[in-house]
Amino acid sequence: MMMMMMGLVSSRVVFLFVVSIFVIWAQVVDLAEGGAVRNYISWEDLQVNEQRLAVKSSHNQVRVITVNQNGGGHSKTVQGAVNMVPDNNRQRVKIFIFPGIYREKVRVPVTKPYVSFIGKRNRTASPIITWNSKSSDKGPNGTALGTYASATVGVDSDYFCATGITFENSVIASAGGKGMQGVALRVSSPKAMFYRVRIKGTQDTLLDSTGNHYFLKCRIIGKVDFICGSAKSLYEKCRLQSIAENYGAIAAHHRDSPTDDTGFSFVSCSIRGSGSVYLGRAWGNYSRIIYSKCNMDGIINPQGWSDWNHSHRKKTAVFAEYQCKGRGADRRHRVPWSKSFSYPEASPFLYKSFIDGDQWLRL
Ligand SMILES: *[C@@H]1O[C@H](CO)[C@@H](O)[C@H](O)[C@H]1NC(C)=O
Ligand SMILES: *[C@@H]1O[C@H](CO)[C@@H](O)[C@H](O)[C@H]1NC(C)=O
Ligand SMILES: *[C@@H]1O[C@H](CO)[C@@H](O)[C@H](O)[C@H]1NC(C)=O
Ligand SMILES: *[C@@H]1O[C@H](CO)[C@@H](O)[C@H](O)[C@H]1NC(C)=O
Repeated sequence: MMMMMMGLVSSRVVFLFVVSIFVIWAQVVDLAEGGAVRNYISWEDLQVNEQRLAVKSSHNQVRVITVNQNGGGHSKTVQGAVNMVPDNNRQRVKIFIFPGIYREKVRVPVTKPYVSFIGKRNRTASPIITWNSKSSDKGPNGTALGTYASATVGVDSDYFCATGITFENSVIASAGGKGMQGVALRVSSPKAMFYRVRIKGTQDTLLDSTGNHYFLKCRIIGKVDFICGSAKSLYEKCRLQSIAENYGAIAAHHRDSPTDDTGFSFVSCSIRGSGSVYLGRAWGNYSRIIYSKCNMDGIINPQGWSDWNHSHRKKTAVFAEYQCKGRGADRRHRVPWSKSFSYPEASPFLYKSFIDGDQWLRL
């Protein structure tokens, strides 16, 4: 009798032990799948499973936040959804935005990393986030906003990514108009990726401010300096669309020192629209812009590049082209201080390694 009870007790102990091990193991697996920090961006981060959206999550943590201005989502505004992301979140939160025109300024702060903006498309529409601030507009304290604060959408969040959305600033600037800078998208994230988004404005459309960024198959529209800033970015298979009437510039990269590890690299992009436009203008002495394997329509100012009226910048700016095609790629009338790169010169700029993508992109 005594022996039998001992046997029972010990088998119960073994059973409880096995159960608790299983519970711990399940938590570890759960952590690995959802809770652990994943320090990279993958295709998975740019998708939502629409079938599962309707099913209420059994966990009370929000992983997908839906935005629908017609109601029925978690939020009617994009900013409302961003505000629902917990501060210092350690896992990805996807903000799924239904078609519609969202008239608002949106900020994704540095305290909310791992955020995705994913646009739901229907047959006729995809979401547009639009506003119309320009740099000369007065801010709350009575002074001019400036270019930086004019942005419709401003992103400081690390590991941010977005797809299927149009970012717009609807201010229409005439080229060179003072105070008419109107940023549609400002990106200051240390690391961020944009896939198939449209960025639409006229002057300073995309303020690619700081950090390492990857733009794949995006469309960027503007007249003058419509891709500008101090970031280190790879633009691959993007369409750069000029809407300049007679004078404009595509890129204005800002770099003040030869040791600044920054630059804009355009690879396999197409350049279309109206012109004429410069490929780039030297913002700072060491501005660095390279176009490789791009297809350029005949809208490029034959000189190609501008020193922004600072003659000494001719000596230090790094402006180069490598294996570009199309009527705009004719280098016979280019300024002599721009370069035609050889493969060894171009190769550091051609691949995702340019932006250290091997460390934070898994595509
Ligand atoms: C697509 O979305 C737009 C904007 O919400 C709406 O007006 C339109 O009716 C939708 N089209 C279809 C086919 O659902
Ligand atoms: C006023 O606001 C702008 C941005 O809107 C800011 O850059 C500037 O520092 C502010 N000036 C003062 C005096 O607070
Ligand atoms: C750019 O170079 C010029 C001429 O060498 C120099 O006077 C100027 O201070 C430099 N600018 C910066 C921001 O270093
Ligand atoms: C450069 O100088 C020329 C001639 O003085 C002037 O017409 C032009 O507006 C200046 N361009 C810039 C970008 O300052």
